[in-house]
Amino acid sequence: MNQQTIPDTLTVIRNRRSVRNYTGESVTQGQLEILLDAGMAAPSAVNCQPWEFVVVTDRKTLDKLGDVLPYAKMIYTAGAAIIVCGIPSKAHKQMVEYAVIDSTLASENILLAAEALGLGAIWTAAYPYPDRMKSVRSILNIPSEVIPLNVIPVGHPTGEDKPKEKFNPNKIHREKWQ
Ligand SMILES: Cc1cc2nc3c(=O)[nH]c(=O)nc-3n(C[C@H](O)[C@H](O)[C@H](O)COP(=O)(O)O)c2cc1C
Repeated sequence: MNQQTIPDTLTVIRNRRSVRNYTGESVTQGQLEILLDAGMAAPSAVNCQPWEFVVVTDRKTLDKLGDVLPYAKMIYTAGAAIIVCGIPSKAHKQMVEYAVIDSTLASENILLAAEALGLGAIWTAAYPYPDRMKSVRSILNIPSEVIPLNVIPVGHPTGEDKPKEKFNPNKIHREKWQ
């Protein structure tokens, strides 16, 4: 990494937002390693770590993913993408639910790490749509028993995307539901 200052954790959490506008600059292997390390640092049920990751930087492959995913067109200007995959056979009790839950936590870590590095990222859905999972599996040669949970484009934000204020006291029940 260069001499960039990493903001504190709560600032990163509050500033994270889905980034849909990228400058087109590339993302370095070093930056991708940091994102993958953050993903693998996530908690998982009984520490099964039922996840694997496909990292894509090839422009043609990124564009192919954009062609098949209806709500991932921002990938055309992203520098890379990480596809977080859940593996039910490696999850606690071989449960699909744990594969999805644990891989979701890995995904959120990746989104937060991107924000910490001054990059932008966004979860775009593959799971639970059979047609999207099929297309992603086909382009990336992912086995049928592996769940491609999402495609996370990563790039340099233009600055257009801003964090949303979401705190809502009405969503909090104190002591009991009321
Ligand atoms: C499970 C899930 C699926 C999502 N799928 C898409 C998607 O396919 N395309 C997209 O543009 N955004 C997608 N998003 C991003 C959400 O739209 C975004 O997180 C939400 O609007 C809140 O905005 P924020 O991330 O900036 O806080 C998805 C988010 C989640 C958690």
